Amino acid sequence: MTRFYVTTPIYYVNATPHLGHAYTTILADATARFRRLFGDTVYFLTGTDEHGDKVAQAAAAAGESPQAYADRISGIFQETWRRLTITHDQFIRTTAAPHRKAVQRILQKIHEAGDIYFGEYGGQYCFGCERFYMERELTDGKCPDHLTVPTYIKEENYFFRMGKYQERLLRHLAAHPDFIRPERYRNEVLAFLKEPLEDLCISRPKARLQWGIPLPFDDRYVTYVWFDALINYVSALDYPDGDLYAKFWGGEQEPIAQHLIGKDILKPHGIYWPTMLWAAGIPVYRHLNVHGYWTVETGKMSKSRGTVVRPLDLVDRYGYDAFRYFLLREMVFGLDATFSEEALVARLNADLANDLGNLVSRTCTMLERYLQGRIPAPSAAATTLDMALPQTVEAAKAAARSAVESFAWHRALEAIWEIVTGANRYIDSVKPWELAKRHPTDLERVLFHLWETIRQAALLLSPAMPDACAAIWRQLGITLPIPKARMSTEGTWGAPVGTGRVEKGEALFPRVETAAIRAKVAAAQGRAAAGASQRKTSSEQPGEPPLLTPEEFGRLELRVASVVAAEAVPKSKKLVKLRVDLGGEQRTVVAGILQDYAPETLVGRQVILVANLKAATLMGVTSQGMVLAATAPDGRVVLLQPDREVPPGSIVN
Ligand code: MSP
Repeated sequence: MTRFYVTTPIYYVNATPHLGHAYTTILADATARFRRLFGDTVYFLTGTDEHGDKVAQAAAAAGESPQAYADRISGIFQETWRRLTITHDQFIRTTAAPHRKAVQRILQKIHEAGDIYFGEYGGQYCFGCERFYMERELTDGKCPDHLTVPTYIKEENYFFRMGKYQERLLRHLAAHPDFIRPERYRNEVLAFLKEPLEDLCISRPKARLQWGIPLPFDDRYVTYVWFDALINYVSALDYPDGDLYAKFWGGEQEPIAQHLIGKDILKPHGIYWPTMLWAAGIPVYRHLNVHGYWTVETGKMSKSRGTVVRPLDLVDRYGYDAFRYFLLREMVFGLDATFSEEALVARLNADLANDLGNLVSRTCTMLERYLQGRIPAPSAAATTLDMALPQTVEAAKAAARSAVESFAWHRALEAIWEIVTGANRYIDSVKPWELAKRHPTDLERVLFHLWETIRQAALLLSPAMPDACAAIWRQLGITLPIPKARMSTEGTWGAPVGTGRVEKGEALFPRVETAAIRAKVAAAQGRAAAGASQRKTSSEQPGEPPLLTPEEFGRLELRVASVVAAEAVPKSKKLVKLRVDLGGEQRTVVAGILQDYAPETLVGRQVILVANLKAATLMGVTSQGMVLAATAPDGRVVLLQPDREVPPGSIVN
């Protein structure tokens, strides 16, 4: 049995939880659930970081003692994680006695080993970051994070001989290329290590800051907050003697700990932490997994601009599963992503309501209608079409497993979606409603394959969307609660699971059509459909998008056209010139699709053309119509085409 120890950063209690904190925690949670599903022994740690300047200042501003303040904000984090059904095994707080003891123990050990020394240091100090900056790290003389001019401070302090471990760290990075992943962050650390690594100031004089863990060898000082915080990853396991420590960190085994962090705290985790561990005689972690940053459309989330995104607001508005799905699906692991409610709603409506929700609902409807809610019997005989379903499930399982291994949930969900689209396609091709009239045995076989495929998809998706997938199993009539299921048993094709009756419930993912989102979509469509009427009808509310009358819609002439030739418009980055056949008539049309389609791949395919649009000249080419396309959430253009080939010129209505 594989052991898996996953940690999130411990969050500062100087702010309440926002989207960024929720993302890391949900990502760790989905991964922990996934590993449990696959039979691993998991330990999942999260918590709050409660010492240091930042917290002391926030407490003072709130008029509370640091401890009372930390208790209150830590409580808000714990409550938020409860509402998001985070399945952590422990919530650590750095003000708790066992952690304080472990920090002092490690400090003592490193001090005795001679890797902590006393000295004087003068340097540029940023109070926001609570650390000294080297001149070369500053941007225009300012802290790159806070954009404030640091203060020059000269004082006596304790230093950790971090520089001594530079070579060892470089050797470790060379021997374990996936120590820090994705690679771009490994490269960032390597770039940093090109310069000599300086020693780390690990104390703050009590005269300046009291809110910290006293140094065991000099109580005039408290511990630098990062030196204190990083140790949580082992103090939580009762370092050095605890059973948990032996099981998930120490002992003879290969390191298994996996830290998950945002890119903002790469340096402490990629440089301070491994060198601290070596100095303390503790083995290093297995992987540092680094994700990108969520920004909002206006840039960084900012309190003063009122752009901080609160996770629970979104859960209240869109449901907890949709929120989790969106975060996991939207962000390419390692890269930054932009958060917007429009993008969330687009995913909710397209992936969840349309693809998954419809699949479950149409299947349950058929099971109720044709089998009176009875669960179809597994069938031995299967056609090639049927067999494609278990094959898709197996392929998705393997792909998802390998993606989740490196926290790449966007890839895992993409792979699992192959099952959902495969099953929807299967329904469209086998048409169970036609079998119902003439071939009841075939119908039973088909419905079994659908039922089983959805059962499998829900199991694989349950770490990402726990409640919705539990509801899917209940609708399918499965009595075993989904969190009890394991891949090796209930995850095999046709495995027996406790079964009752299929009962279609409430819509799993109701479509969201908010006025604001409709208005945005309409504005985008309005830009595209040049010439469409903008006149308001009397029934419309102010601010609502103008609605078309059937007559107005009827003025649009939409036709299917076949592409017979395609080439890039010279000197244009976006435009493609298409020659299209409308059945007896050929036209030239210009489309802004070059970034998403190579011209040669377009020849032979069918498109939908707005055929009665006034001609327009673009970069010297006259376009006699407009090709219809959708814009995907990532901004890519996706051409519309008929579901199967029809004669060119066919009318679309
Ligand atoms: N207390 C330190 C961490 C100590 S770990 C030993 C800290 N806390 S924090 O409250 O500032 O949280 C930082 C972490 O929150 C990031 O690494 C990331 O996990 C998450 N995020 C905060 N804002 C974020 C975004 N805008 N986007 C994505 N995640 C970010 O640093």
